[in-house]
Amino acid sequence: MEDVSGRIEQLRKELHQHNYNYYVLNQPTISDYEFDQMMHELEDLERQHPEYADPNSPTQRVGSDLNQSFKQVPHKYPMLSLANTYNEDEIRDFYERVSNGLAGEDFEIVAEMKYDGLSISLTYVDGELTQAVTRGDGVVGDDVTANVRTIRSIPLKLKEGSGYPNEFEIRGEILMPWTSFEALNAEREAKEEPLFANPRNAASGTLKSQKSELVAARKLDAFLYYLIVPEGATMQASSSGGMADLFGMTSEQAFVNEYHYEGLMKAKEWGFKISDGMKKCKSIDDIMDFINYWDKERKNLPVATDGVVLKVNSLRQQRHLGYTAKSPRWAIAYKFKAERECTRLNEVTYQVGRTGAITPVANMDPVQLAGTMVKRASLHNADVINELDLYIGDMVYVEKGGEIIPKVVGVNKDKREPGMQKVEFITHCPECGAPLVRYEGEAAHYCPNETGCPPQIKGRIEHYISRKAMNIDSLGPETVDDFYQRGLIHDIADLYQLTIAQVAGFNKNRVVSATKAVEAIKNSVNVPFERVVFAIGIRFVGETTAKLLARKFKTMEALRHATLEQLLDVDGVGQVIAESVIRYFADEKNQIIIERLAAAGVQMQMSEEELAGHTDKLAGQSIVISGVFQHHSRDEYKAMIEKNGGKNVGSISAKTSFVLAGDNMGPAKLEKAQKLGVKIVNEDEFLQMLA
Ligand code: IVH
Repeated sequence: MEDVSGRIEQLRKELHQHNYNYYVLNQPTISDYEFDQMMHELEDLERQHPEYADPNSPTQRVGSDLNQSFKQVPHKYPMLSLANTYNEDEIRDFYERVSNGLAGEDFEIVAEMKYDGLSISLTYVDGELTQAVTRGDGVVGDDVTANVRTIRSIPLKLKEGSGYPNEFEIRGEILMPWTSFEALNAEREAKEEPLFANPRNAASGTLKSQKSELVAARKLDAFLYYLIVPEGATMQASSSGGMADLFGMTSEQAFVNEYHYEGLMKAKEWGFKISDGMKKCKSIDDIMDFINYWDKERKNLPVATDGVVLKVNSLRQQRHLGYTAKSPRWAIAYKFKAERECTRLNEVTYQVGRTGAITPVANMDPVQLAGTMVKRASLHNADVINELDLYIGDMVYVEKGGEIIPKVVGVNKDKREPGMQKVEFITHCPECGAPLVRYEGEAAHYCPNETGCPPQIKGRIEHYISRKAMNIDSLGPETVDDFYQRGLIHDIADLYQLTIAQVAGFNKNRVVSATKAVEAIKNSVNVPFERVVFAIGIRFVGETTAKLLARKFKTMEALRHATLEQLLDVDGVGQVIAESVIRYFADEKNQIIIERLAAAGVQMQMSEEELAGHTDKLAGQSIVISGVFQHHSRDEYKAMIEKNGGKNVGSISAKTSFVLAGDNMGPAKLEKAQKLGVKIVNEDEFLQMLA
């Protein structure tokens, strides 16, 4: 037995090393064949000896096709974003703010690439990956550990003897390299599946997939750029040695804890993929040289980048500079200028979205733009078309910034010829022919034929089954389209009448998935009422508004009979939403759908448990939570505020009713509250208010 466990250990160690050589260093030292041989031997041994299983074994990178739904995990340190700059002047301003903030002290700025993927936070304990969490809303994210384990350039185990801290977090960007992106889209095109607009969307769609097997197949990559070593973490002895300083700390330790750049260089030794293109800058000129160099050179990088990030190197100075409400004062992003090309506009076509919103699309002569061929661009709405003063045949400027779809930003009017036709926005829906309408204050035109226009019908069903609505996760847009094409469903209530035989289409091979789908639909009748209010898809009623409406009216029947005044009385509901609710329930087709949903058993009122504990004690109040609390967590306080009819808001303004303040409330917030005369309420006082 000794032998087996020893061999397993040895194979794992070697495979981790070869993985690293291949995916991080891009310098394999053995052939793929030899690698596969070792992997097979390890897989066999692990199969025969399940007692030695380890989630961080190199064999685990292949993923599983188990369905997992993600757990939400709070971030230990919030994941903030960066303020953006677009030109040299704004960089100078940043540089000056830093310099002033540090009272003229010397400082270094680290310039590095801004990767265009999705951010991830990785936790390592005793050299092993224990958790990977997406940014989410910055405060809580999705636990995607199983998926992240399949990304070959993310070490599952750090290098022995490399001196890593016993516990730390490291953040970075998950990316889909251009080559994988293009291959994936080619494959999807062949299967007539919708294409991903850019590598960022593809990476994000992949990482959020429920199947880690699929994640493994899609070949993601990751660059790490931010190390957080908590105070008090101890370092694993480093075999490379190091001079003990006066405090008994090795020089490496001091670097890890004191400087951003040096910390990342250490992380590189532990096994992480860290960009080679980082530079310590001593002046604005250094920074501009870096930016100008990478603005061109980035086109040769294997992954997408959209700018440069500038960070103060010293962590002490970072702490001194601190944070604004949204981003650090010690860092800033510079966004590369979008690439622009000129090409001919041939036609304007119109797409009908799920909500009936009409999007005009420019169809142009194909032009090479930022690495891809572009022939279509969004024109957003009628106002944009009018402002551009577009004619068919115009030479138009197209830009592709960080955004998904290229856009038309201008017209070269010198190239205009007589007799060309002005672009006039359509008056009728291209899908169903209904006359279009434009709602007060809305930029978009809408097709009002909600119940008869195919993309809207499908869109509403897709919305109904989506995660934040009824969460019927065994159905997706493709199944909805399929059911609709086959004439099985025309509205959301039809879902509850589907039979296994219909769904399977009398095809034996589809019985298992059909059973699963029908089961999932049946189970959705337990979804709480407030999500039902969101799911039925009343135009302009989002998740939050749905909650407010559900809590105020408590039953669908009451909501259906609500008057304009009663609706307007709900905090957060204005004229547009109130009218939309009335319009929805006035439509007889919707009334029938609601009745059919009720007959299927869908929740049409708040449950006893939901009603219990709900009060109006904080009705109409906007409350900011700040600081650290003793009795309850921030999330618990947030829930209490909502349960008692209040609204939790992010930042202090004159409209804030009060600040619920714990210990260490930020000085900037305190000052702002005082300046605006906003009341500060401590934890005990708050609990008293609700008692
Ligand atoms: S540092 C507190 N460095 O850009 C500082 N971010 O809005 C944390 N990003 O959410 C971010 N490359 O997803 C940093 N070299 C880099 C980056 C980078 C890309 C992303 C990151 C962040 C966003 C900033």
